[in-house]
Amino acid sequence: MNKLEGKKILIGVTGGIAAYKSVEIASRLKKMGANVRVVMTRAATEFVTPRTFQEITQAPVAVEMFDDVINFEKNHIALANFADVVLIAPATANFLAKVAHGIADDLLTTTILATPAPLIFAPAMNTVMFENVATQENLKILAARGIKIIEPATGRLACGTTGKGRLPEPEKICAEILKFFNVTEVADEKFQSTVTVSSFFGEVMTVTDELERLNGKKILVTAGGTLEPIDPVRYIGNRSSGKMGYEIAAAARRLGAEVILVSAKSSLPAPNDLTFIQVETAEEMREAVLKNFDAVDAVIMAAAVSDYRVKNISAQKIKKSADTLTLELVKNPDILKELGRLKKSQVLVGFAAETENLLEYAQRKLEEKNLEMIIANDVTAEGAGFSVETNIATLIYRNGKIENFPKMTKAELAEKIIGRVAEFF
Ligand code: C5P
Repeated sequence: MNKLEGKKILIGVTGGIAAYKSVEIASRLKKMGANVRVVMTRAATEFVTPRTFQEITQAPVAVEMFDDVINFEKNHIALANFADVVLIAPATANFLAKVAHGIADDLLTTTILATPAPLIFAPAMNTVMFENVATQENLKILAARGIKIIEPATGRLACGTTGKGRLPEPEKICAEILKFFNVTEVADEKFQSTVTVSSFFGEVMTVTDELERLNGKKILVTAGGTLEPIDPVRYIGNRSSGKMGYEIAAAARRLGAEVILVSAKSSLPAPNDLTFIQVETAEEMREAVLKNFDAVDAVIMAAAVSDYRVKNISAQKIKKSADTLTLELVKNPDILKELGRLKKSQVLVGFAAETENLLEYAQRKLEEKNLEMIIANDVTAEGAGFSVETNIATLIYRNGKIENFPKMTKAELAEKIIGRVAEFF
Protein backbone atom coordinates (compact mmCIF):
# COMPACT_ATOMS: atom_id res chain seq x y z
CA MET A 1 0.00 0.00 0.00
CA ASN A 2 2.84 2.40 0.91
CA LYS A 3 4.86 1.88 -2.22
CA LEU A 4 5.51 5.60 -2.62
CA GLU A 5 6.89 5.87 0.91
CA GLY A 6 9.75 8.34 1.00
CA LYS A 7 9.02 9.70 -2.48
CA LYS A 8 8.72 13.46 -2.69
CA ILE A 9 6.22 14.74 -5.21
CA LEU A 10 5.54 18.38 -5.96
CA ILE A 11 2.16 18.94 -7.61
CA GLY A 12 1.62 22.20 -9.45
CA VAL A 13 -2.02 23.12 -10.00
CA THR A 14 -2.84 25.75 -12.61
CA GLY A 15 -6.13 27.53 -13.23
CA GLY A 16 -8.36 25.22 -15.20
CA ILE A 17 -11.69 23.69 -14.24
CA ALA A 18 -9.95 20.30 -14.03
CA ALA A 19 -8.14 21.60 -10.92
CA TYR A 20 -10.72 19.73 -8.85
CA LYS A 21 -9.37 16.43 -10.19
CA SER A 22 -5.94 17.20 -8.80
CA VAL A 23 -7.46 17.02 -5.33
CA GLU A 24 -8.00 13.32 -5.93
CA ILE A 25 -4.56 12.96 -7.48
CA ALA A 26 -2.97 14.47 -4.36
CA SER A 27 -5.11 12.28 -2.15
CA ARG A 28 -4.21 9.07 -3.99
CA LEU A 29 -0.48 9.83 -3.96
CA LYS A 30 -0.64 10.69 -0.29
CA LYS A 31 -2.49 7.45 0.48
CA MET A 32 0.29 5.59 -1.28
CA GLY A 33 2.72 7.05 1.24
CA ALA A 34 4.24 9.86 -0.83
CA ASN A 35 5.35 13.14 0.70
CA VAL A 36 3.19 15.51 -1.36
CA ARG A 37 3.55 19.29 -1.58
CA VAL A 38 1.27 21.50 -3.65
CA VAL A 39 1.91 24.83 -5.35
CA MET A 40 -1.07 26.58 -6.91
CA THR A 41 -1.25 29.48 -9.30
CA ARG A 42 -3.50 32.31 -8.23
CA ALA A 43 -6.00 31.34 -10.97
CA ALA A 44 -6.14 27.78 -9.63
CA THR A 45 -7.36 29.08 -6.28
CA GLU A 46 -10.49 30.31 -8.09
CA PHE A 47 -11.41 26.66 -8.64
CA VAL A 48 -10.18 24.90 -5.50
CA THR A 49 -9.03 26.42 -2.24
CA PRO A 50 -5.49 25.93 -0.96
CA ARG A 51 -7.11 24.71 2.26
CA THR A 52 -8.47 21.64 0.46
CA PHE A 53 -4.98 20.60 -0.61
CA GLN A 54 -3.62 21.54 2.77
CA GLU A 55 -6.03 19.15 4.49
CA ILE A 56 -5.23 16.35 2.08
CA THR A 57 -1.46 16.70 2.07
CA GLN A 58 -1.17 17.82 5.69
CA ALA A 59 1.36 20.38 4.46
CA PRO A 60 1.24 24.09 3.72
CA VAL A 61 0.23 25.05 0.21
CA ALA A 62 2.17 27.77 -1.54
CA VAL A 63 0.61 30.27 -3.93
CA GLU A 64 2.27 33.66 -3.69
CA MET A 65 5.87 34.48 -4.44
CA PHE A 66 6.14 37.27 -1.92
CA ASP A 67 4.00 35.97 0.93
CA ASP A 68 7.01 36.07 3.09
CA VAL A 69 9.43 38.66 1.73
CA ILE A 70 12.37 37.53 3.82
CA ASN A 71 11.98 33.93 2.71
CA PHE A 72 10.81 34.40 -0.83
CA GLU A 73 14.17 33.56 -2.30
CA LYS A 74 14.31 30.40 -0.24
CA ASN A 75 10.70 29.41 -0.95
CA HIS A 76 10.94 28.50 -4.59
CA ILE A 77 14.45 27.13 -4.23
CA ALA A 78 13.38 24.94 -1.33
CA LEU A 79 10.35 23.71 -3.26
CA ALA A 80 12.45 23.19 -6.38
CA ASN A 81 14.97 21.08 -4.46
CA PHE A 82 12.37 19.20 -2.47
CA ALA A 83 10.92 17.23 -5.33
CA ASP A 84 11.92 13.86 -6.77
CA VAL A 85 9.43 14.65 -9.51
CA VAL A 86 7.19 17.60 -10.36
CA LEU A 87 3.71 16.92 -11.71
CA ILE A 88 1.65 19.74 -13.19
CA ALA A 89 -2.02 18.78 -13.39
CA PRO A 90 -3.86 20.45 -14.93
CA ALA A 91 -1.40 22.41 -17.05
CA THR A 92 -3.13 25.31 -18.82
CA ALA A 93 -2.15 26.67 -22.24
CA ASN A 94 -0.85 29.80 -20.52
CA PHE A 95 1.34 27.78 -18.17
CA LEU A 96 2.77 25.67 -21.03
CA ALA A 97 3.53 28.83 -22.99
CA LYS A 98 5.29 30.43 -20.05
CA VAL A 99 7.46 27.41 -19.30
CA ALA A 100 8.27 26.89 -22.97
CA HIS A 101 9.71 30.40 -23.04
CA GLY A 102 11.35 30.47 -19.65
CA ILE A 103 8.98 32.98 -18.10
CA ALA A 104 9.01 32.92 -14.32
CA ASP A 105 6.45 35.43 -13.11
CA ASP A 106 4.87 33.55 -10.23
CA LEU A 107 5.86 31.00 -7.63
CA LEU A 108 5.01 27.96 -9.74
CA THR A 109 6.80 28.99 -12.94
CA THR A 110 9.79 30.21 -10.92
CA THR A 111 9.95 26.86 -9.12
CA ILE A 112 9.81 25.04 -12.46
CA LEU A 113 12.73 27.09 -13.75
CA ALA A 114 14.71 26.36 -10.59
CA THR A 115 14.06 22.64 -10.18
CA PRO A 116 16.50 19.94 -11.21
CA ALA A 117 13.66 17.38 -10.86
CA PRO A 118 12.07 15.65 -13.85
CA LEU A 119 8.82 17.26 -15.00
CA ILE A 120 5.52 15.64 -15.94
CA PHE A 121 2.86 17.91 -17.44
CA ALA A 122 -0.79 17.00 -17.91
CA PRO A 123 -2.29 19.64 -20.21
CA ALA A 124 -6.05 20.21 -20.00
CA MET A 125 -8.03 22.79 -21.92
CA ASN A 126 -10.67 23.38 -24.55
CA THR A 127 -10.00 21.48 -27.82
CA VAL A 128 -9.45 24.58 -29.94
CA MET A 129 -6.93 25.95 -27.45
CA PHE A 130 -5.18 22.58 -27.34
CA GLU A 131 -5.02 22.33 -31.11
CA ASN A 132 -3.93 25.92 -31.55
CA VAL A 133 -0.56 26.08 -33.34
CA ALA A 134 0.88 28.11 -30.47
CA THR A 135 0.01 25.44 -27.91
CA GLN A 136 1.17 22.61 -30.16
CA GLU A 137 4.51 24.33 -30.81
CA ASN A 138 4.98 24.97 -27.11
CA LEU A 139 4.29 21.31 -26.39
CA LYS A 140 6.91 20.33 -28.97
CA ILE A 141 9.46 22.61 -27.30
CA LEU A 142 8.65 21.12 -23.89
CA ALA A 143 8.75 17.51 -25.10
CA ALA A 144 12.07 18.17 -26.84
CA ARG A 145 13.48 19.21 -23.46
CA GLY A 146 12.53 15.84 -22.04
CA ILE A 147 9.41 16.92 -20.22
CA LYS A 148 6.91 14.07 -20.10
CA ILE A 149 3.59 15.21 -21.54
CA ILE A 150 0.53 13.17 -20.57
CA GLU A 151 -1.83 13.30 -23.53
CA PRO A 152 -5.18 14.83 -22.68
CA ALA A 153 -8.19 12.56 -22.99
CA THR A 154 -11.03 12.98 -25.45
CA GLY A 155 -14.51 13.48 -24.09
CA ARG A 156 -16.98 15.99 -22.83
CA LEU A 157 -15.35 19.24 -21.79
CA ALA A 158 -16.45 21.71 -19.15
CA CYS A 159 -17.28 24.24 -21.87
CA GLY A 160 -20.01 21.91 -23.14
CA THR A 161 -18.23 20.67 -26.28
CA THR A 162 -16.75 17.25 -26.92
CA GLY A 163 -13.17 16.81 -28.05
CA LYS A 164 -9.58 16.40 -26.98
CA GLY A 165 -8.51 18.37 -23.92
CA ARG A 166 -9.87 16.63 -20.84
CA LEU A 167 -7.52 15.98 -17.96
CA PRO A 168 -7.19 12.16 -17.82
CA GLU A 169 -8.76 10.55 -14.77
CA PRO A 170 -6.69 10.77 -11.54
CA GLU A 171 -6.10 7.03 -11.61
CA LYS A 172 -4.36 7.35 -14.97
CA ILE A 173 -2.22 10.27 -13.90
CA CYS A 174 -1.18 8.44 -10.73
CA ALA A 175 -0.28 5.43 -12.87
CA GLU A 176 2.21 7.70 -14.72
CA ILE A 177 3.76 8.68 -11.40
CA LEU A 178 4.02 5.03 -10.38
CA LYS A 179 5.61 4.29 -13.71
CA PHE A 180 8.08 7.10 -13.14
CA PHE A 181 9.14 5.53 -9.84
CA ASN A 182 9.20 2.08 -11.44
CA VAL A 183 6.50 0.75 -9.18
CA THR A 184 3.97 -0.09 -11.83
CA GLU A 185 3.14 -3.40 -10.20
CA VAL A 186 1.66 -1.40 -7.36
CA ALA A 187 -1.16 -0.10 -9.47
CA ASP A 188 -3.21 -3.24 -9.08
CA GLU A 189 -2.57 -3.57 -5.40
CA LYS A 190 -3.27 0.07 -4.69
CA PHE A 191 -6.44 0.22 -6.64
CA GLN A 192 -7.82 -2.97 -5.18
CA SER A 193 -10.31 -0.92 -3.24
CA THR A 194 -11.16 1.14 -6.30
CA VAL A 195 -14.32 -0.06 -7.90
CA THR A 196 -16.43 1.31 -10.66
CA VAL A 197 -19.99 1.70 -9.56
CA SER A 198 -23.14 3.08 -11.01
CA SER A 199 -24.60 6.08 -9.25
CA PHE A 200 -28.32 6.04 -8.62
CA PHE A 201 -28.84 7.26 -12.17
CA GLY A 202 -26.48 4.86 -13.83
CA GLU A 203 -23.69 7.44 -14.06
CA VAL A 204 -20.46 5.44 -13.90
CA MET A 205 -18.03 6.62 -11.27
CA THR A 206 -15.04 5.40 -9.38
CA VAL A 207 -15.14 4.96 -5.65
CA THR A 208 -11.86 4.72 -3.85
CA ASP A 209 -13.07 4.71 -0.30
CA GLU A 210 -13.00 1.56 1.71
CA LEU A 211 -16.25 -0.02 0.79
CA GLU A 212 -17.19 -1.26 4.21
CA ARG A 213 -16.58 1.86 6.20
CA LEU A 214 -20.20 2.18 7.27
CA ASN A 215 -20.84 -1.48 8.00
CA GLY A 216 -23.07 -1.81 11.05
CA LYS A 217 -24.21 1.83 10.87
CA LYS A 218 -27.80 2.85 10.29
CA ILE A 219 -28.40 6.09 8.43
CA LEU A 220 -31.69 7.85 7.82
CA VAL A 221 -31.87 10.15 4.80
CA THR A 222 -34.77 12.40 3.85
CA ALA A 223 -35.30 13.52 0.28
CA GLY A 224 -37.71 15.22 -2.07
CA GLY A 225 -40.09 18.09 -1.53
CA THR A 226 -43.01 17.87 0.87
CA LEU A 227 -46.50 18.75 -0.36
CA GLU A 228 -49.10 20.61 1.64
CA PRO A 229 -52.65 20.02 0.42
CA ILE A 230 -55.01 22.92 -0.24
CA ASP A 231 -57.98 20.78 -1.26
CA PRO A 232 -58.32 17.22 -2.65
CA VAL A 233 -56.82 18.40 -5.97
CA ARG A 234 -54.24 21.12 -5.26
CA TYR A 235 -51.21 21.46 -3.07
CA ILE A 236 -48.36 23.80 -2.20
CA GLY A 237 -45.04 22.26 -3.21
CA ASN A 238 -41.47 23.14 -4.10
CA ARG A 239 -38.93 22.48 -6.83
CA SER A 240 -36.93 19.73 -5.12
CA SER A 241 -36.28 16.76 -7.43
CA GLY A 242 -35.10 14.44 -4.67
CA LYS A 243 -31.92 13.70 -6.59
CA MET A 244 -29.44 14.90 -3.94
CA GLY A 245 -31.08 12.85 -1.17
CA TYR A 246 -31.46 9.72 -3.32
CA GLU A 247 -27.77 9.93 -4.27
CA ILE A 248 -26.80 10.31 -0.60
CA ALA A 249 -28.87 7.25 0.29
CA ALA A 250 -27.21 5.28 -2.53
CA ALA A 251 -23.71 6.42 -1.46
CA ALA A 252 -24.41 5.35 2.15
CA ARG A 253 -25.53 1.94 0.91
CA ARG A 254 -22.35 1.55 -1.14
CA LEU A 255 -20.27 2.12 1.99
CA GLY A 256 -22.19 -0.65 3.74
CA ALA A 257 -24.68 1.32 5.86
CA GLU A 258 -28.20 0.17 6.48
CA VAL A 259 -30.30 2.99 5.04
CA ILE A 260 -33.81 4.30 5.65
CA LEU A 261 -34.89 6.71 2.94
CA VAL A 262 -37.87 8.86 3.90
CA SER A 263 -38.97 10.44 0.67
CA ALA A 264 -41.48 13.16 -0.03
CA LYS A 265 -42.49 13.88 -3.63
CA SER A 266 -39.89 12.91 -6.19
CA SER A 267 -40.22 11.47 -9.66
CA LEU A 268 -37.37 9.04 -9.05
CA PRO A 269 -37.97 5.31 -8.72
CA ALA A 270 -37.74 3.90 -5.19
CA PRO A 271 -34.39 2.14 -4.67
CA ASN A 272 -34.86 -1.47 -3.65
CA ASP A 273 -31.87 -2.19 -1.43
CA LEU A 274 -32.97 0.01 1.45
CA THR A 275 -35.99 0.72 3.62
CA PHE A 276 -38.12 3.15 1.67
CA ILE A 277 -40.82 5.21 3.36
CA GLN A 278 -43.00 7.38 1.16
CA VAL A 279 -44.50 10.46 2.76
CA GLU A 280 -46.30 13.50 1.47
CA THR A 281 -46.52 16.28 4.02
CA ALA A 282 -44.03 17.72 6.50
CA GLU A 283 -46.06 16.23 9.36
CA GLU A 284 -45.91 12.76 7.82
CA MET A 285 -42.18 13.18 7.34
CA ARG A 286 -41.77 14.22 10.96
CA GLU A 287 -43.65 11.15 12.14
CA ALA A 288 -41.57 8.77 10.00
CA VAL A 289 -38.29 10.37 11.08
CA LEU A 290 -39.13 10.46 14.80
CA LYS A 291 -40.29 6.85 14.77
CA ASN A 292 -36.86 5.72 13.54
CA PHE A 293 -34.66 8.29 15.23
CA ASP A 294 -33.61 6.26 18.29
CA ALA A 295 -32.44 3.38 16.13
CA VAL A 296 -30.18 5.33 13.77
CA ASP A 297 -26.60 6.62 13.98
CA ALA A 298 -27.03 9.57 11.64
CA VAL A 299 -29.76 11.61 9.97
CA ILE A 300 -29.12 13.53 6.79
CA MET A 301 -32.03 15.86 6.03
CA ALA A 302 -31.79 16.58 2.33
CA ALA A 303 -35.55 17.04 1.93
CA ALA A 304 -37.00 20.43 1.13
CA VAL A 305 -39.60 20.63 3.86
CA SER A 306 -42.46 23.13 3.54
CA ASP A 307 -42.16 25.74 6.23
CA TYR A 308 -45.95 26.32 6.24
CA ARG A 309 -49.10 24.29 5.62
CA VAL A 310 -52.68 25.28 4.89
CA LYS A 311 -54.59 25.81 8.12
CA ASN A 312 -57.99 24.59 6.90
CA ILE A 313 -57.72 22.06 4.09
CA SER A 314 -60.89 22.17 2.06
CA ALA A 315 -62.71 18.83 1.96
CA GLN A 316 -64.02 19.67 -1.51
CA LYS A 317 -62.31 21.12 -4.55
CA ILE A 318 -62.34 24.91 -4.16
CA LYS A 319 -64.51 26.38 -6.89
CA LYS A 320 -63.41 29.28 -9.02
CA SER A 321 -65.69 32.13 -7.91
CA ALA A 322 -64.25 35.24 -6.22
CA ASP A 323 -61.45 37.21 -7.93
CA THR A 324 -59.05 36.64 -5.08
CA LEU A 325 -58.54 33.68 -2.80
CA THR A 326 -56.80 33.89 0.54
CA LEU A 327 -55.25 30.84 2.14
CA GLU A 328 -54.28 30.95 5.77
CA LEU A 329 -51.00 29.15 6.47
CA VAL A 330 -49.64 27.87 9.75
CA LYS A 331 -46.06 26.99 10.56
CA ASN A 332 -44.88 23.40 10.13
CA PRO A 333 -42.73 21.76 12.78
CA ASP A 334 -39.00 22.08 12.11
CA ILE A 335 -38.07 18.40 12.08
CA LEU A 336 -34.33 18.86 12.18
CA LYS A 337 -34.51 21.35 15.03
CA GLU A 338 -36.55 18.85 17.01
CA LEU A 339 -33.95 16.14 16.31
CA GLY A 340 -31.28 18.60 17.47
CA ARG A 341 -33.03 18.78 20.83
CA LEU A 342 -33.66 15.04 21.10
CA LYS A 343 -30.34 13.71 19.89
CA LYS A 344 -28.11 11.52 22.00
CA SER A 345 -25.12 10.43 19.97
CA GLN A 346 -26.61 10.72 16.49
CA VAL A 347 -24.77 12.68 13.83
CA LEU A 348 -27.11 15.31 12.38
CA VAL A 349 -26.58 16.80 8.96
CA GLY A 350 -28.74 19.47 7.36
CA PHE A 351 -28.90 21.42 4.14
CA ALA A 352 -29.17 25.15 3.73
CA ALA A 353 -30.50 26.00 0.30
CA GLU A 354 -30.28 29.75 0.14
CA THR A 355 -30.59 32.57 -2.36
CA GLU A 356 -28.58 35.16 -0.39
CA ASN A 357 -26.20 35.48 2.60
CA LEU A 358 -25.38 31.79 2.16
CA LEU A 359 -22.69 31.21 4.74
CA GLU A 360 -24.21 33.44 7.41
CA TYR A 361 -27.64 31.75 7.20
CA ALA A 362 -26.11 28.30 7.01
CA GLN A 363 -23.93 28.89 10.06
CA ARG A 364 -26.94 30.15 12.00
CA LYS A 365 -28.94 27.02 11.08
CA LEU A 366 -26.09 24.76 12.12
CA GLU A 367 -26.21 26.28 15.60
CA GLU A 368 -29.98 26.67 15.93
CA LYS A 369 -30.60 23.08 14.86
CA ASN A 370 -27.64 21.67 16.81
CA LEU A 371 -26.06 19.95 13.78
CA GLU A 372 -22.65 18.35 13.26
CA MET A 373 -22.47 19.57 9.68
CA ILE A 374 -24.49 21.64 7.23
CA ILE A 375 -24.26 21.64 3.46
CA ALA A 376 -24.77 25.14 2.13
CA ASN A 377 -25.66 25.77 -1.45
CA ASP A 378 -26.73 28.88 -3.30
CA VAL A 379 -29.66 27.61 -5.32
CA THR A 380 -29.47 30.59 -7.67
CA ALA A 381 -25.90 29.77 -8.78
CA GLU A 382 -25.52 28.27 -12.23
CA GLY A 383 -25.06 24.51 -11.97
CA ALA A 384 -26.45 24.33 -8.44
CA GLY A 385 -29.75 23.77 -6.71
CA PHE A 386 -33.02 22.20 -7.75
CA SER A 387 -33.58 20.00 -10.78
CA VAL A 388 -30.03 20.25 -12.15
CA GLU A 389 -27.52 17.42 -12.33
CA THR A 390 -24.76 19.28 -10.50
CA ASN A 391 -24.32 21.17 -7.26
CA ILE A 392 -21.82 23.58 -5.74
CA ALA A 393 -21.59 23.12 -2.01
CA THR A 394 -19.81 24.40 1.05
CA LEU A 395 -19.61 22.10 4.04
CA ILE A 396 -19.62 23.84 7.40
CA TYR A 397 -18.70 21.87 10.49
CA ARG A 398 -19.53 22.41 14.11
CA ASN A 399 -15.90 23.21 14.95
CA GLY A 400 -15.99 26.09 12.48
CA LYS A 401 -14.13 24.26 9.72
CA ILE A 402 -15.36 25.19 6.24
CA GLU A 403 -14.80 23.11 3.14
CA ASN A 404 -15.60 24.46 -0.33
CA PHE A 405 -16.33 22.06 -3.14
CA PRO A 406 -16.21 23.01 -6.80
CA LYS A 407 -19.11 22.23 -9.13
CA MET A 408 -19.59 18.47 -9.31
CA THR A 409 -22.37 16.01 -10.03
CA LYS A 410 -24.81 15.34 -7.22
CA ALA A 411 -23.57 11.74 -7.20
CA GLU A 412 -20.00 12.93 -6.61
CA LEU A 413 -21.10 15.36 -3.93
CA ALA A 414 -23.10 12.59 -2.24
CA GLU A 415 -19.90 10.51 -2.08
CA LYS A 416 -18.07 13.39 -0.41
CA ILE A 417 -20.86 14.00 2.09
CA ILE A 418 -21.09 10.35 3.09
CA GLY A 419 -17.29 10.17 3.32
CA ARG A 420 -17.36 13.07 5.79
CA VAL A 421 -20.22 11.53 7.76
CA ALA A 422 -18.21 8.30 8.04
CA GLU A 423 -15.39 10.29 9.60
CA PHE A 424 -17.67 11.26 12.49
CA PHE A 425 -17.88 7.65 13.61
O1 C5P B 1 -34.53 26.36 8.20
P1 C5P B 1 -34.41 25.72 6.86
O2 C5P B 1 -35.70 25.20 6.33
O3 C5P B 1 -33.76 26.54 5.83
O4 C5P B 1 -33.42 24.48 7.17
C1 C5P B 1 -33.07 23.57 6.20
C2 C5P B 1 -32.75 22.24 6.82
O5 C5P B 1 -33.72 21.89 7.81
C3 C5P B 1 -32.84 21.14 5.79
O6 C5P B 1 -31.90 20.14 6.14
C4 C5P B 1 -34.28 20.66 5.91
O7 C5P B 1 -34.42 19.31 5.47
C5 C5P B 1 -34.55 20.82 7.38
N1 C5P B 1 -35.93 21.22 7.72
C6 C5P B 1 -36.67 20.45 8.60
N2 C5P B 1 -37.95 20.81 8.93
C7 C5P B 1 -38.50 21.92 8.41
C8 C5P B 1 -37.76 22.72 7.55
C9 C5P B 1 -36.47 22.34 7.20
O8 C5P B 1 -36.19 19.44 9.07
N3 C5P B 1 -39.72 22.22 8.74
